Amino acid sequence: MSSQLAVVSGASSGIGAATANALAGAGWQVVLVARSRPGLEAVQRSIAAAGGAAVVAALDAADGSQVAAMAETLRRDHGSPSLVVNSAGFGAWKFLEDTPPAESAAMVAAPYLAASNLCRAFLPDMLERRAGLLVHVGSPASRIPWPAATSYTAMRWALRGLHEALCQDLVGTGVRSCHVVFGEVSSPYFEHNRITRDQLPAIGRLVPVVTPERCGEVILRTVRRPRREVVHPFMLRLFYVMAAIAPGPTRWLVAATGRRHEGRDQERAIGG
Ligand SMILES: NC(=O)c1ccc[n+]([C@@H]2O[C@H](COP(=O)([O-])OP(=O)(O)OC[C@H]3O[C@@H](n4cnc5c(N)ncnc54)[C@H](OP(=O)(O)O)[C@@H]3O)[C@@H](O)[C@H]2O)c1
Repeated sequence: MSSQLAVVSGASSGIGAATANALAGAGWQVVLVARSRPGLEAVQRSIAAAGGAAVVAALDAADGSQVAAMAETLRRDHGSPSLVVNSAGFGAWKFLEDTPPAESAAMVAAPYLAASNLCRAFLPDMLERRAGLLVHVGSPASRIPWPAATSYTAMRWALRGLHEALCQDLVGTGVRSCHVVFGEVSSPYFEHNRITRDQLPAIGRLVPVVTPERCGEVILRTVRRPRREVVHPFMLRLFYVMAAIAPGPTRWLVAATGRRHEGRDQERAIGG
């Protein structure tokens, strides 16, 4: 059974919830991780209604001791997972000087600490089995920063850094790490973090919006055929190619079509 057990963080909403549904539909038993129990139970019910199996683990994944306790219970009751999907994330898009320290700390907590704790909890079992997969849900900000999303960007770089470091650590072990990057997703992330689409640079709005369900399908495909980095949709891949070929002009274009300090006072006045 343990070979088909997956832990998904951020599973109460958006990309994590859709991924949990997709995995359960493909026969995985899914452990649903987030802080809010009601949200997780709703996802558990939808999985059960579709004939799947899910376990609720309501906890703060940024708290190492809560994750360690969950891992112990899981091993005892269900075995150790062969897949961890890190989709827990938080963070508004703000200039650094507009970001209170507590908000920066919450962005360190998720995605970075949550992903680090969950990987750490299950890696020893994966290494022993010489098999396992760690999937991290990332943002294009981890490669192509845009203005006025400072701490958000820094923490998406941290998540990509964790992934890149793990790739080096895991050479020859049979365990893989995948960074799956999406453009704009029509999840409640924007509502949860009080972000609006017009905070994106105008150039970024050329990338089509994808649904959380589509993200779930892309992650399921990645689980079946792991790759170091997956970028979705196609238009975003073109931006990645552009950034690799011409990093300076790409940075200029993104900055030139993004938000500026000069507009900040006006945004505050209208509640931005
Ligand atoms: N939406 C997009 O356009 C988009 C695009 C690319 C990448 N991403 C990235 O994908 C990730 C997920 O985004 P989403 O769109 O699915 O957002 P979402 O709908 O707001 O979901 C975020 C999830 O993370 C959970 N979470 C937050 N902090 C947590 C913690 N400390 N411990 C456990 N769970 C925690 C939340 O549940 P609780 O609050 O109940 O804990 C919720 O389930 C984020 O890192 C985001 O940056 C999003």
